[in-house]
Amino acid sequence: MTNTERRAAEDKARRDDEAYDREERKSVQSHWSDKTLGDMNERDWRIFREDFSITTKGGRLPTPMRTWDEATMPEQILRAIQKVGYDKPSPIQMASIPIGLLKRDVIGIAETGSGKTCAFVVPMLAYIMELPKMTDEVAAAGPYALIMAPTRELAQQIEEETVKFAQYLDYRVTSVVGGQSIEDQGFKLRRGCEIVIGTPGRIIDVIERRYTVLQQCNYIVLDEADRMIDMGFEPQVVSVMESMSADNLKPMDEAEKIDGAGLEAGEQGTRYRMTYMFSATMPASVERLARKYLRNPAVVNIGSAGKTSDLIKQVVQWVDRNNKPKQLELVLSQFPDTQAIVFVNTKKAVDHVYNLCHKMGYSVGGIHGGKSQDQREDALKGFKAGEYDILVATDVAGRGIDVKDIDLVMNYEMPFVIENYTHRIGRTGRAGRQGTAVSFLTSDDSDIFYDLRELLTNSNNPIPPELARHEAAKVRHRVGVVKGKLHVRRSVKWFAILQVLLTPPTARALTRGAEFSLGAAVPTSGMWGSGSRCWSLGCKV
Ligand SMILES: Nc1ncnc2c1ncn2[C@@H]1O[C@H](COP(=O)(O)OP(=O)(O)OP(=O)(O)O)[C@@H](O)[C@H]1O
Ligand SMILES: [Mg+2]
Repeated sequence: MTNTERRAAEDKARRDDEAYDREERKSVQSHWSDKTLGDMNERDWRIFREDFSITTKGGRLPTPMRTWDEATMPEQILRAIQKVGYDKPSPIQMASIPIGLLKRDVIGIAETGSGKTCAFVVPMLAYIMELPKMTDEVAAAGPYALIMAPTRELAQQIEEETVKFAQYLDYRVTSVVGGQSIEDQGFKLRRGCEIVIGTPGRIIDVIERRYTVLQQCNYIVLDEADRMIDMGFEPQVVSVMESMSADNLKPMDEAEKIDGAGLEAGEQGTRYRMTYMFSATMPASVERLARKYLRNPAVVNIGSAGKTSDLIKQVVQWVDRNNKPKQLELVLSQFPDTQAIVFVNTKKAVDHVYNLCHKMGYSVGGIHGGKSQDQREDALKGFKAGEYDILVATDVAGRGIDVKDIDLVMNYEMPFVIENYTHRIGRTGRAGRQGTAVSFLTSDDSDIFYDLRELLTNSNNPIPPELARHEAAKVRHRVGVVKGKLHVRRSVKWFAILQVLLTPPTARALTRGAEFSLGAAVPTSGMWGSGSRCWSLGCKV
């Protein structure tokens, strides 16, 4: 480089520095929160995204909305949101609603209690507003939108959250879940409704019995998608997806072009199917489903998948198994002013802990999959209404369930997989409120040691010394030979949904590995002898 060239390069570098400083000074003077939408530059958006831990993937995407009125949504929906009382959008709502309004497919991952339901309900309402009014004639082709959830209680709760907004738009919302009269649900469906929410099994039932069809349903949400797959519901989910009109699926190779054109025009011309998947955790098992049914999806992450909310103080206590009842009493006595959920792993344990709490003088509700639907609903409704101090529950109440003002969640028994821990403790520390999760850990829980240690470290919560020095906390657990019968290896191709006869301890061992997804236990004790269960098991073998 000649001297002249060097001088020119130095001059240019100086000018660039000055320009950068000027820009920096300008930005320091006005933070993004002081700027109008039109004045927001790239740097402001970057800081904005950092402030709310928003990361997105999936090609060109619209900028987030900082406030509700920055999104281009119909006035009636804005008014509905106002009436519901949500003053500010939460980060997942800020990032994913503008994308949903452009009719892109979305995978949304955000921590528990962060308002994911509203994030998929709002674009759904905006979409329905563009469609013809649901007259009797239109109703014959079925609902406009469908939401699937893994448990009955969650489906009913999503129904409540949807009705909160939909009532102002005069839309009818129906939930279809097992354990309730299918005829009544069928009657409501035939009368016509814009939105259906249900568990996959019951949705298939109402389709098979011709109570409804999905001819014009082009908006589908899988809430807690990973859980539905874990529970072995993938075939049912797939079957529902297959009963929707395939004509409206975006052509795989043109999806990107169509979405790009939609972004330019501020909307999408042709009406394609929109598919949404939301959860606080997204293990790899969901990818297969996403690849098949989502088109050029936008992936919105708030924080990282599986991250626990910073609002939850996590206390893990190393206890002796025999000492748990005493320790339970002690912990509950330390939280006299709040309702609490106590999680266990089995129906039997629900009854056991229920009795313990009852003897301590608490009013208690119990919920597990073996109870009748009426009992399940009574327990949860009673707890939500404040009739019970304590709800003793299995994972049936572990996902999505939103009860206001719970300051304490306990794991009397540790779940077998870390995702369930994340969701269980997420029943507290919701919608900006602080909470505490106290979990009892014993040497029997070694399967979860590694993941738990990682999670506690990443969330800056204390690790009990017994866990920190335990060998099982140093290496990730892998399933190898299970009882010497079934050899299981990672990364071998998925090929079957097996019906495997297992004793519960073996089944429990199987849940340790991410490669397994245990389906709902089918109670077959009469047929197979006591103590046995026939598990529907999705696995790679
Ligand atoms: N923008 C908002 N402003 C105030 N409250 C909100 C807002 N959005 C949602 N909420 C409230 O926050 C609570 C949690 O919402 P929601 O159940 O949708 O969370 P989630 O992210 O789906 O949690 P989970 O992972 O447990 O399913 C609800 O009580 C809901 O009413
Ligand atoms: Mg939810």
